[in-house]
Amino acid sequence: MYRTHTCGALRLQDSGIQTTLAGWVQTIRKFGAITFVDLRDRYGITQLLLGEALTKQLEENPLGREFVLQVTGTVQERSSKNPALATGDIEVNATSYTVLNKSATPPFTIQDDTDGGDDIRMKYRYLDLRRNAVKKNLELRYAVNRAARNYLHGQGFMDIETPFLIKSTPEGARDFVVPSRMNEGQFYALPQSPQTFKQLLMVSGYDRYYQIVKCFRDEDLRADRQPEFTQIDCEMSFVEQEDILEMFEGLIKYIFEEVKGIAYTEKVERMSWEDAMWQYGNDKPDIRFGMKIANLKFPGYAFPSKQPDLAEGLPQGFKVFDDAETVVAISVPGCSEYSRKQTDELTDWVKRPQIGMKGLAFIKYAADGTVKSSFDKFYNEAQLKSILNAAAASPGDLVLILAGTEERTRKAMSELRLEMGKRLGLRKDNEFKLLWVLDFPLFEYSEEDNRWVARHHPFTSPKPSDIDIMISTSPEIKDAASYLAHPYASIKANAYDMVLNGNEIGGGSIRIFQRSLQEKMFTALGMSHDEALHKFGFLLGAFEYGAPPHGGIAFGFDRLCAILGGSESIRDFIAFPKNNSGRDVMLDAPSSIDVKQLEELSLILKDQ
Ligand code: AMO
Repeated sequence: MYRTHTCGALRLQDSGIQTTLAGWVQTIRKFGAITFVDLRDRYGITQLLLGEALTKQLEENPLGREFVLQVTGTVQERSSKNPALATGDIEVNATSYTVLNKSATPPFTIQDDTDGGDDIRMKYRYLDLRRNAVKKNLELRYAVNRAARNYLHGQGFMDIETPFLIKSTPEGARDFVVPSRMNEGQFYALPQSPQTFKQLLMVSGYDRYYQIVKCFRDEDLRADRQPEFTQIDCEMSFVEQEDILEMFEGLIKYIFEEVKGIAYTEKVERMSWEDAMWQYGNDKPDIRFGMKIANLKFPGYAFPSKQPDLAEGLPQGFKVFDDAETVVAISVPGCSEYSRKQTDELTDWVKRPQIGMKGLAFIKYAADGTVKSSFDKFYNEAQLKSILNAAAASPGDLVLILAGTEERTRKAMSELRLEMGKRLGLRKDNEFKLLWVLDFPLFEYSEEDNRWVARHHPFTSPKPSDIDIMISTSPEIKDAASYLAHPYASIKANAYDMVLNGNEIGGGSIRIFQRSLQEKMFTALGMSHDEALHKFGFLLGAFEYGAPPHGGIAFGFDRLCAILGGSESIRDFIAFPKNNSGRDVMLDAPSSIDVKQLEELSLILKDQ
């Protein structure tokens, strides 16, 4: 046996026992004739005391950081205890040790606060993974995985694997493709999700399916996106939207309870997509704080059912507002005393290319009730007060106003709101707020292709009340400018997203299960009959053989873990992640392949 205990196991009550530990040398401290070594493994750190004889031995064969050591000795009480360590009351008085393996000097310190930058840590990820901070994240990931499996198993779901070498499944990103050696000139695609397979499993009668599964998407990467990521993918038969919301609200609450010890007892809030856009400028609003958007001016086409928050309309006279399509405001609590420097800085913030606004207007509503704005020249006090009123501002608030084109302005206000929420400490890591966003539009207009694209995916069903619009209207769009007037723009989907603290952690829908409606959907998306058959003949065929009504959802497993762990970056929760250029810097992948491999695959590279 290499060891009798782990480096995290021994306590004061073990004093006097003989122990053998094995682990990595974290630190070595020599005090005159004796030496202290901190020995680390996955379970913790134990202090070793090497007396005079062993310290002498060290002089000839010095230890170094990250050497792999086996030590035998006696557990004893420490004279200076370390309350920060679980084993901090004891040390092991070593009687012998063996160096099991040496280590080169690591390129960064393997401690919580490491001196290693991102790139170097990724290159030596196997060393980075030794750090407690990263280990904790992987432990959390495993706990979420276990909890999800327990819950779903308890609810009668069956884990069924689906293939990775498949034909393209459109989920809105590009496919990663794999050339086939045995089928010259042909390619597999890696699944963007197991979407069509889980639907086929429903046709086969496996009415509760789940899988914790890798998905592959060739898309631009961000902190919350990886080219290969993991989903908790689920599907159910004989269900309506309400059944799905109940079941998976239950899943997330169970994970909260098991992993974080949080009893999330309240019902998860629900909001329509339209209300989310109207009040937060965003389809995944962070509802941990208020600061809702006041809609002072907006184009009717964007929100046909909404009234402006300023009943009498925005006063005329300030060109920036007069010329704008959309004018929106938020009231930032307690910031009416912002200095010129602070408002200038916020103005620069909204002018950054990522936000793209031309400027920022504001009203300072002082605690004593006085009102001062950046456009005092154009508005009188009564007019300013009408805006304060519309923005539900209280004395002490700073009202921030953006004006411009609808889409950009609303998006910018959403970003500004999140930024102010962050600056005011309203987006707390240890507070969790779930939200269902419902009633998404079924279609989105693609200017690039001048056609409709599925907002979720082509297998999502329209709301039953909107099916007639789809059946009775042609999808043809006369010109880009008028697409919003097309009846298709108003069709709502039987789709839902789950949002946690402003992040989309899951999304799904009730599916189309009749061949004719699915064919109509493909036509609406601009696919010819032949193209639909070529791409999705298998699914259309399956729908001929008794497909049950079904629906499902997939959760972004990495994202869920990151948020539960209080991090913005999913990379911290993936053992071997890719960097922002989609590279694995440790493996140096992607990389070129041998000429022989290319030949076998019948591939010729353009520039060779
Ligand atoms: P969707 O495309 O919404 O739905 O994906 C589900 C969830 O997966 C997460 N996610 C990602 N996480 C990390 N990196 C990525 N590149 C990435 N892309 C998506 C998100 C998202 O909410 N087949 C459908 C599900 C269904 O209809 O049942 C699907 O894949 O958290």
